Amino acid sequence: MRIGLMTSGGDCPGLNAVIRSAVLHGIKSYGDEFVGFRAGWRGVIEADYFELGRQNVRGISREGGTILGTSRTHPYNHPGGGPENMAKTLKRHEIDAVIAIGGEGTLAGAKRLADAGIPVVGVPKTIDNDLNATDYTFGFDTAISIATDAMDRLRTTGESHHRCMVSEVMGRHVGWIALHSGMAAGAHAILIPEQRVNIDQVCEWVEQVHSRGRAPLVVVAEGFIPDDAEEALAGKGQEADGRPRLGGIGEFITAQIEQRTGIETRNTTLGHIQRGGNPTGYDRVLATRFGIKALDLVHEGAWGHMASLRGTEIVTMGLTEALDGLKEVPAQRYEEAKILFGR
Ligand code: F6P
Repeated sequence: MRIGLMTSGGDCPGLNAVIRSAVLHGIKSYGDEFVGFRAGWRGVIEADYFELGRQNVRGISREGGTILGTSRTHPYNHPGGGPENMAKTLKRHEIDAVIAIGGEGTLAGAKRLADAGIPVVGVPKTIDNDLNATDYTFGFDTAISIATDAMDRLRTTGESHHRCMVSEVMGRHVGWIALHSGMAAGAHAILIPEQRVNIDQVCEWVEQVHSRGRAPLVVVAEGFIPDDAEEALAGKGQEADGRPRLGGIGEFITAQIEQRTGIETRNTTLGHIQRGGNPTGYDRVLATRFGIKALDLVHEGAWGHMASLRGTEIVTMGLTEALDGLKEVPAQRYEEAKILFGR
């Protein structure tokens, strides 16, 4: 078969490992040929691709980013998009199937296209780990390790100055990155989108820690909403697709803590550092297994399905299930973390 690979949405450490394993598995096991579409659905729609041979994927599983490039191009709304055009393009270029590697938006597009007859399978990715249909996505472990390292560093400078340190991490709709990195770094308060918390409560935790001579660390997810606010802070306008560009809650909390407690406080927004650089060993393995599975799905003709992790097994999941809600942090996981907040 001749198979096209594409990566779409925000990049994520591990994308290259998926590409490598799918290509190697296809060449070694089935004698397949591959092309790489450039910049997500745009490349598929515009037939902008390059031949992807064994030499192109050599050594890339340890590299962050994606050798294909990515974009948030919508497969239907982009000029020339939609299943009829795409089917013609794939036929003209003799491409038998597409492996779409992306998050919720990408998989939603892939599902619509598969329903309309396009031979497409999916691979889930997101550093946020917010997809219900898989226990973990690659990129998450890397983000946790980067954020934990950053917080360890914030703690040593915080302790030296007896300051409160705030760290804003990614997490648009869910707080997995904040919860795990905060727990790993021994944070004294963790604020996530799923849980409304009063700023007075945050200040109380900070004061308790400060009064026993420690430098408080507060971890806040970008999507956290204080209990008296309507929505997440999006002081940076909108994305091209109309989504609000989140960010700024770390600065806001920092100012509130300083004003209300008088404790000198500093914010560090980790931002895209969490998505950059080499994937961890865990993410390389997960991504490699997903790539192998996706290739098998293509050969099974399992259009509209994707690779997923359940426990320790890689399984087949319908894209319908993949879009069936976000994987939020359960209340009981937050209660567990809360035991170690404040004093
Ligand atoms: O979905 C992953 C994510 O990292 C979110 O946590 C964050 O809001 C968003 O991507 C940022 O995207 P961009 O790269 O477009 O700024």
